[in-house]
Amino acid sequence: MPHPDVLDKLVSLAKRRGFVFQSSEIYGGAGSVWDYGPLGVELKNNIKARWWNAMVRQRDDVEGLDAAILMHPRVWEASGHVAGFTDPLVDCKACKARFRADKLQDAQCPRKPSKRPGEHADCQLTEPRQFNLMFKTFMGPVEDSASVVYLRPETAQGIFVNFLNVQQATRQKVPFGIAQIGKAFRNEITPGNFTFRTREFEQMEMQFFVEPGTDMAWFEKWKAWRREWHLGLGLDDDRLQFHQHDERELAHYARAAFDIEFDFGGSLGFQEIEGVHNRSDFDLTQHQKFSGKRLEYVDQAANKRYVPYVIETSVGADRVTLAALVNAYREEAVAGEQEGRTVLRLHPAIAPITAGVFPLTRKDGQPDMAERLAADLRKRFPVFYDDAGAIGRRYRRQDEAGTPFGITIDGDSTTNDDVTIRFRDDLRQIRVASGQVADVIADYLASDKPTAEVPRT
Ligand code: GAP
Repeated sequence: MPHPDVLDKLVSLAKRRGFVFQSSEIYGGAGSVWDYGPLGVELKNNIKARWWNAMVRQRDDVEGLDAAILMHPRVWEASGHVAGFTDPLVDCKACKARFRADKLQDAQCPRKPSKRPGEHADCQLTEPRQFNLMFKTFMGPVEDSASVVYLRPETAQGIFVNFLNVQQATRQKVPFGIAQIGKAFRNEITPGNFTFRTREFEQMEMQFFVEPGTDMAWFEKWKAWRREWHLGLGLDDDRLQFHQHDERELAHYARAAFDIEFDFGGSLGFQEIEGVHNRSDFDLTQHQKFSGKRLEYVDQAANKRYVPYVIETSVGADRVTLAALVNAYREEAVAGEQEGRTVLRLHPAIAPITAGVFPLTRKDGQPDMAERLAADLRKRFPVFYDDAGAIGRRYRRQDEAGTPFGITIDGDSTTNDDVTIRFRDDLRQIRVASGQVADVIADYLASDKPTAEVPRT
């Protein structure tokens, strides 16, 4: 069965619950730029932390880096972005809209009735012209060509220019990698689909430096590891696929490339969330040429020197966050209840709030006990305390926020010192001594599985 289109519903839920807001909304919004609200920033931070853990902390052959966004302008000449980071653009003189010339089939003219650009009788499309996607600005007080700098369109170049710095500082031997998370900017002609294609976004990139000749074997390993990582995040197996770039799609630097695609449902369908690229020695060789500095690796044991090949894994933090939300979104009937529920079945480890704590009533010492428990749990997990409204409504609010555990303090709790834990996914409820709640939750998080998959009595 095809996955339904949930994007519009998600945009509304994201605003209602505080995941994502349109940037500068009170001024009418800034084009395709989004702000992460209180829940969204937690979700995205959890995803970034998970990536950093898997790529840097849990490996002894990958080092971390945080390079600056602004770099020497020659970097972008060497990388090929000044000359070639372009999309073909057409303007319509009738409606003033702009389209990517190579994507006219997928585009819509803004006028009614809805048609493709060029299909209205008075459409006036210009000849395509190349449009560079890099944002340009000026360094210092003088706005002339000598002071032009670019907002980086990818984080990768910050890694290439630091290759020898990191290698020498850490005494890593090839093969080894450098990873970083950071903002990137692209003046996309046709951004859209919520946070899928935006002009400001965050990348999580890793460049793995290998001896030429061993590159394709490493490429295959990284392809498999990266798919595993997405599965570990809770993305469904049947929503992930590889797409191999053919000759026409291969970037100028790539010897081989696969996209990891996620099925966003509806007409958007399978789309790239990550690229795994064999960049050969293109980047280091280019930077050697443009900087005049040698960027070779000296293998003392084998008495040889060479410019390493690079296997790159490049994933968008915003796109994966959106994939996690789409994957998690459900509208479900609830047995015995008239109203259904909307729930985000997020993997517990990335959910913005781990546990909701609810005193059933505001009397009989229940709020005191609930507040004490919430304070205790907060030392280990993000917790939301809610004593407002009917308990069913409080559960529903946390279901929409993706909170995996709900802890209710009722009339028996103050006498027996126990509470109910409700599981978001299968709505099971178990009774647990209040002193054990934190350990029970920690067990689930350590098992690293969605709550419904972990059997527990
Ligand atoms: N260094 C290689 C590189 O940047 P890319 O395929 O252009 O490769 C990598 O980008 C990832 O960055 C994509 O798979 C996507 O997740 C994310 N990305 C690229 N452009 C984006 C945009 N305009 N908005 C959001 N994410 C984007």
